[in-house]
Amino acid sequence: MSKRIALVTGGTRGIGEAISRALHKAGYKVAATYASRDEDAELFSKETGIAVYKWNIADYDACEKGVAQICEDLGGSIDVLINNAGITRDSAMHKMSFENWEAVIETNLTSCFNMSRVVIDAMREKKFGRIVNISSMNGQMGQFGQTNYSAAKAGIFGFTKALARETASRGITVNAVSPGYIATEMVKAVREDIMKQILAGIPVGRLGEPEEVARAVLFLVAEEASFITGETLSVNGGQYME
Ligand code: CAA
Repeated sequence: MSKRIALVTGGTRGIGEAISRALHKAGYKVAATYASRDEDAELFSKETGIAVYKWNIADYDACEKGVAQICEDLGGSIDVLINNAGITRDSAMHKMSFENWEAVIETNLTSCFNMSRVVIDAMREKKFGRIVNISSMNGQMGQFGQTNYSAAKAGIFGFTKALARETASRGITVNAVSPGYIATEMVKAVREDIMKQILAGIPVGRLGEPEEVARAVLFLVAEEASFITGETLSVNGGQYME
């Protein structure tokens, strides 16, 4: 069989970077999207040999164009889609602007529709596909200052389960991975006093590593994971259990 093609959104840094690297190491042809920081993305590509593509995943037309380009460059359709890209714009509701609500919903949730919609026809035709949506523990439990982020991430769980039902008979699985606090730039940007509280609340006693999230993703995209769909795999150090 020819190599499977995997696409990771936000795949050049943070959790996405670890996922891109892990898939590449496991033998997939990998394409990673990014939204800013051209220099960092190019360095990442040079170092890893992973192809990188810049577009705004909140823009449906850009997703269509970008995926078509990747399919042409890598010589096939997308077998594995990791909807990973996400942003935070934290503030309490009484201080939150509409722009910060909209930016988070569109980047974190609408992007999952955009990307899945663009790859789904080819997966259905091939009767094979793996979609993993990176949600968040804060979408399960709700977080102070994150009505936008928690809503978007909670939306991902519903999206995952609905799409899993639609695609199950076509050899396509759709699952969510739900990280807790992982040592990335996003988490390290949290105020120091709040970070202390966060750490105190993690039973394992430390932040998670991006590679620990990548490991969960790799498990779910395996050919052998074909009976697991509509499921959530939490990677949160024991902080939240449903
Ligand atoms: N629960 C209850 N009350 C809280 C609280 C909490 N978690 N956090 C703060 N408060 C209270 C404060 O004690 C304070 O009360 P008083 O007015 O009575 O003193 C009040 O709310 C205001 O708090 P702040 O001073 O913190 O308010 P702020 O406007 O300066 O900051 C904020 C608000 C930016 C949201 C800040 O609280 C913050 O950064 N919180 C962290 C949010 C967070 O966890 N983000 C995660 C980012 S990483 C991520 O999202 C990755 C992932 O998927 C896990």
